[in-house]
Order: sequence, then structure tokens, then C-alpha cells
Amino acid sequence: MISKKIEKALNGHLNYELGASLQYLAMASWCETMGMDGAASFFYGHAHEENLHFIKLFQYINEVNGHAIVPQVKQPNHSFKGIAEICQMAYENEKKVTQAIFSLVELAKAEDDHVTTEMLRFYVQEQREEETLFQKVLDKIKLIGTGSQSLYYIDKELGNLAAPSPEPPADNEA
Ligand SMILES: [Fe+2]
Ligand SMILES: [Fe+2]
Repeated sequence: MISKKIEKALNGHLNYELGASLQYLAMASWCETMGMDGAASFFYGHAHEENLHFIKLFQYINEVNGHAIVPQVKQPNHSFKGIAEICQMAYENEKKVTQAIFSLVELAKAEDDHVTTEMLRFYVQEQREEETLFQKVLDKIKLIGTGSQSLYYIDKELGNLAAPSPEPPADNEA
């Protein structure tokens, strides 16, 4: 159902989503080792979300008679100068992913692939939300400044923004 060109482009995009998931995981890990548990849970949540984006696109490729291929992803950065640098990096990366999604939309439209164009709306929406979120985080970090308590407050802010972990199933639902 999808053209070879679209199949190739979507497979190429899998790298961005899985790469983002692993990069957020590395960020979560760094924050955790620094005792920034709020920031760690914020980034663990994002790693999970990017993984869902990855799986969703992966399954879509097969649903429309393509062949989803697990990409080879390069190892993410794992050492950082600080939390401000991490958030800036996350924001820059989200902007790159947005551009990649826009290119996919353009390609799908050029190929008259309405099904893929429709599927990509979810990703356009997600990118808009994530760019706004990281822009907000960067504004907050600027506001908090670099005083002696700043790391404590940044950690707290990111902890507040972290999605609550999913509820474990109740006993009778297992
Ligand atoms: Fe994503
Ligand atoms: Fe993202």
C-alpha cells in the first residue's frame, strides 16, 4: 500500500525516534547519578514516550505492507556539563525531529499518500507539544538562574513536569 520511497523514508525516521528514546534514557541516567531524581523521572518519562513513538511508527510500516527494520542507532551522549546543557540539547534535538517530520509530510503529500499523511498528524502534534514544553523548561531555568540553590529548584520543577508513572493493574484485573 505504501510506495518504496515512503517505506524507505519512514524506516529512516525510526532512527530519530529510537535515538531520542536512548538519548533521554542517557539523560535520565546522568541526572539520577547526580541525585536529581525529579529531572531523572522527567527524562525517564520522555524516554518511554519516544519509545512509544518508535513502536507506533514501526508497526504502521508493517500494517501498510512495508517491512519495518530495527535501525542501528549510535550510542547517545552520556556525559554532560549540567542540567541546563541537557535541556538545551533536548530542545535542539526536538527541533531537528520536527523538521524531519515536516519532510515526511511533504513527501507523503507529493506521493498522494493520504493514509501516511493522516498518520503523520499525530507526530506533527507531538512535536508541537514537545517543542513548547522544552521551550518552557528553558525559560524556567533562565528564571531560576545559577544561584546556590538553583539545581535544587530546577530538579523540583522538572519533577513536577514528569508524567506520573503508570498505575500498576489492580489485583482483580491481572
Ligand atoms: Fe518522538
Ligand atoms: Fe520528542
